[in-house]
Amino acid sequence: MEKYLWGGVFSETEKSENIKRFIDSFHFDWIICSENFDITLTHAVALNKLGILEKDAIVKIFESKQKVIKSIQEAQKDEFEDVHSAIEFFISKFVGEDVGFNLRLGRSRNEEVISSTNLWILRKFLNLKDMFKKISDSVISSAEKNFGKVVPLFTHTRQAQPILFSHLVLSYHEGFIRCLERISDCLERFDVCHLGSGAGAGTGVPLDVEFMAQMLGFSKISQNSIDSTGRRDNITELIFNFAILSELFSKIADDLILLSSENFGFVELSDKLCTGSSMMPQKKNPDTLEVTRSKFPKLTGYLNSMLMLEKGLISGYSKDLQEDKRILFSALHEIFEVCEIIPEVFLNMKATEGNIHNYTLATDLAEKIVQDKKITYREAHKLVGEKLKKGEKIKDITIEESLRLKRTPQSTNPNLVKNQIENHKKRSDQILGEIERFLKRFEEADFRKRIEDYLRNI
Ligand code: ARG
Repeated sequence: MEKYLWGGVFSETEKSENIKRFIDSFHFDWIICSENFDITLTHAVALNKLGILEKDAIVKIFESKQKVIKSIQEAQKDEFEDVHSAIEFFISKFVGEDVGFNLRLGRSRNEEVISSTNLWILRKFLNLKDMFKKISDSVISSAEKNFGKVVPLFTHTRQAQPILFSHLVLSYHEGFIRCLERISDCLERFDVCHLGSGAGAGTGVPLDVEFMAQMLGFSKISQNSIDSTGRRDNITELIFNFAILSELFSKIADDLILLSSENFGFVELSDKLCTGSSMMPQKKNPDTLEVTRSKFPKLTGYLNSMLMLEKGLISGYSKDLQEDKRILFSALHEIFEVCEIIPEVFLNMKATEGNIHNYTLATDLAEKIVQDKKITYREAHKLVGEKLKKGEKIKDITIEESLRLKRTPQSTNPNLVKNQIENHKKRSDQILGEIERFLKRFEEADFRKRIEDYLRNI
């Protein structure tokens, strides 16, 4: 059976091994085969609605999924041009060429690839919510376990004011919640079914596009076939979100590397996170954190690749866009790798008593003097500055008092930070719950049920 989906106009379809490998995508896009199968089955159902394919053919395609997917997984990865050709080849093989050869009616790989990728991403995230929950739980439990430990806040890398270590940890969680919110919002841009767009101009086959979208779980259909087939900004946006998330992880790594170094001594890293030196017996190096930090520049690179991929492309599909999946898969690989590690980082480090400089109480003293002596802040600032210049210590305020003196809701006051911990738990449960509810309708099992219902009713 011919493996190419085209060729009539060609004198020869064979290519050198080099060219084939260079332009084919099967060796990386076979990963989306399950979603591409479901999209193909949905198209078959739409053809059935038009009286073009028999119910019996739909049942047979439906039942062939496991066999088709297994064959694709086991196929040589240079055997097909792309996942679309492979799906049609195996459906034709297992169900019959009369069915398989008609599946191309009214559709193009240009609309199929973006619809399958969207579905793949949405299903992928179904499995990822547990990973995000683990990160959130580990950060919050670190804030709980270290509650009461005090470290300096650094500004300009100089000791500034005493803070609760838990307050610092919650600042990471604040950033993490924002990342989840952004990811949740961005996933909405994947909730679009592009079927019906054809190669870019639509099709003369009157497919029930709304019906196809609903079958697959999508709440929206695309509004413009040229936009559908020629843009990838949702993928760019997702990678942007990964870059921001990895930037947060990189900052956490930066902080912990510095705070745990012998010159700072405010954090202790478990040996589990470190390795030694082959030459210097004394070394304990924070490798886990250093590799965590390395992900941000890499993800920024993927983001840049995605942004530049669309530069200079005229409207309509161009094969350049095929590279989107390589960038996406690599970016996903990097971000998952680091997401898996973050809970281990938080479970394997703790705050320790370090040397907090007495001068970090200077701001509290100046604020106290304003209250007691009814002078302006500028005058109090000067008084405290002069006292420190003379080498005098601040004796009027302790570190514990400094914390308790804080009044604003976002401050490091222990009572407020304690409440914040509870607050963070609720906020992360809420956003993770929202993501889970949104993704539910894309589950493969739900899709199967909808197809079964359809088949029962015709
Ligand atoms: N493999 C292609 C991609 O991933 C699918 C679309 C190819 N279309 C075409 N006419 N060659 O973008």
